[in-house]
Amino acid sequence: MLLSVVGIHCRLTHRFQFLVIILAVTSQKGGVGKTTVAINLAYALAKSGKKTLLVDSDPQGSVGLSLTRESRTLDGFYDSLSSPSIQARHVIVPTRMETFSLVPAGQTEAYELGGSPDVTAQSVTAFFNEIGSEGYDVCIVDTAAGLFGTTAMILREADAVLVPQQAEPLGVRSVPTLLDALVKMRADNPKLKVLGVVMTMTMPHLSESKEAVAALRKILPEEMVTKAEIRRDDIFIKASAKGLPVGVMPEGSHAQKSFDELLTEVRSKLAI
Ligand SMILES: Nc1ncnc2c1ncn2[C@@H]1O[C@H](COP(=O)(O)OP(=O)(O)OP(=O)(O)O)[C@@H](O)[C@H]1O
Ligand SMILES: [Mg+2]
Repeated sequence: MLLSVVGIHCRLTHRFQFLVIILAVTSQKGGVGKTTVAINLAYALAKSGKKTLLVDSDPQGSVGLSLTRESRTLDGFYDSLSSPSIQARHVIVPTRMETFSLVPAGQTEAYELGGSPDVTAQSVTAFFNEIGSEGYDVCIVDTAAGLFGTTAMILREADAVLVPQQAEPLGVRSVPTLLDALVKMRADNPKLKVLGVVMTMTMPHLSESKEAVAALRKILPEEMVTKAEIRRDDIFIKASAKGLPVGVMPEGSHAQKSFDELLTEVRSKLAI
């Protein structure tokens, strides 16, 4: 059952009456910072006290590889989709933080070359309905690049979508087309709220990077580009190598601040 609360439709399960907002992190292009944004925004949200579930829907298993090395041996999102006996709650992995849990991608060999042999829209719907009864406030879903296949099915279930975009001149041109495509997806999913673009890997000292950010801000409505920007910083590569969100690295507080700012904007847009 869907309930409309302050403009956002939330999943309401008849048994437990828990609400969960599903936020997809999506882009047309690869390597723009989706996984980095999903992990660190999820950490910021969990740190703020919201019960947060981070789901890795990228068959490459990037979230899992970043946060738990053994995750490739665990059942995960794709196992739950392809096997009715593996319920969503069976693939949730707790972390040391009480408010932060993960669903790794799982055994994805069959999907890594772009196919989705066992994934149906019904199995994706069932997965998120099951998540709806697990008591999470927000479920952040890291997706593979592109709006097709499993990602399209996830976007049909999502309440909101956030689009990371690398601050480089060639990249920004395709963003308005992508946002149009996402807005059109509301024909299938009227509750989908497009939160807009977050600029990633910005380099304020480099004129090309500054110009790319300015160009995007000029062509899109103000509310479609977040005020928070994620600077290019080696800390993200170090954090990823250690399997940690930047916020738990001793020297990561500066980078984490950008995600806390992004979180403030996201929470305001979602009214949570
Ligand atoms: N702000 C940043 N500063 C420096 N490096 C970054 C930043 N954001 C991401 N990276 C690095 O850039 C690479 C790509 O980032 P990431 O994996 O988050 O992108 P993605 O969009 O999820 O890629 P894919 O489409 O392959 O899933 C990674 O090596 C990551 O560590
Ligand atoms: Mg990724």
